Amino acid sequence: MKVFTLATELPSIHIKNPNRKIAFIATMGALHEGHLSLVEAAQQDGYLTVVSIFINPLQFNNSSDLEKYPRTLALDLALLEAQGVDFVFTPTNEEMYPSTTADVVVDLGPLDSRFEGACRPGHFHGVVQVVYRLFNYVQPHVVYFGEKDLQQCLVIEQLVVQHFPDLQMRRVVTKREASGLAMSSRNMRLSDKGLETAAAIYKSLTAVVANPTQMGVTLAIEKQNLTSMGFDVEYLSCVMLPFMDELDNQQLQLLTQVTKSRQYAVVFAGSLEGVRLIDNLVF
Ligand code: PAF
Repeated sequence: MKVFTLATELPSIHIKNPNRKIAFIATMGALHEGHLSLVEAAQQDGYLTVVSIFINPLQFNNSSDLEKYPRTLALDLALLEAQGVDFVFTPTNEEMYPSTTADVVVDLGPLDSRFEGACRPGHFHGVVQVVYRLFNYVQPHVVYFGEKDLQQCLVIEQLVVQHFPDLQMRRVVTKREASGLAMSSRNMRLSDKGLETAAAIYKSLTAVVANPTQMGVTLAIEKQNLTSMGFDVEYLSCVMLPFMDELDNQQLQLLTQVTKSRQYAVVFAGSLEGVRLIDNLVF
């Protein structure tokens, strides 16, 4: 496994491997099995793998969240090496944001002002800036993103359509603990009790999807359940992809069967023990 810190070193990957296709996985480190499942998917598809580790200051709208973000580079590199990753890119802030480059413009439509866009103003602007630069530096053929960050996937799909028409984007289903809790770097900030309680998120999402004829009622009940368990719920809603249009009660009543079309999702965000968690189920 080769580790690069300079963007100018990255073209050598293509030069030395002219017959291989490159898969790219962007991360902010604090790696867990969820990240490794993205690498595994790329390896199974037969690609050379490039993983970036960069904590992007531009996507944190809260400076204490940025400070608290776990920094575990040595451990991350050991995990990637054990997983058989080919290349890692660990740029500095100066490398990613030289003063000479202008911001890229991506029309995110309503994605920028709904759900995560509304709860974390400026977040997707920051994600788009860093991902655009990373794609340009790495020049991958395929990119893999985790469906746990569903709205981020939808945002990046817009970036790809508008700026990288030849790039393939693959979403990988959320990796979960045995309890159903979606794997996340933030889980390590929960107490043992918090980890147990947080498993209720997946149970609520599953209950909503399992009751399509009663979805409006189930959403209200599950929101109440989670609140009574100590969650500060920001949203628990059913949306239509790809722009996360929230379904109102009338539309929910019409959704009388689980379509399996993967055009809808139940999305959740909320805090437990002061840790903000998100999850979703696409159906
Ligand atoms: O999902 C993440 O870890 C980040 O948002 C990403 C895509 C690496 C951009 O900084």
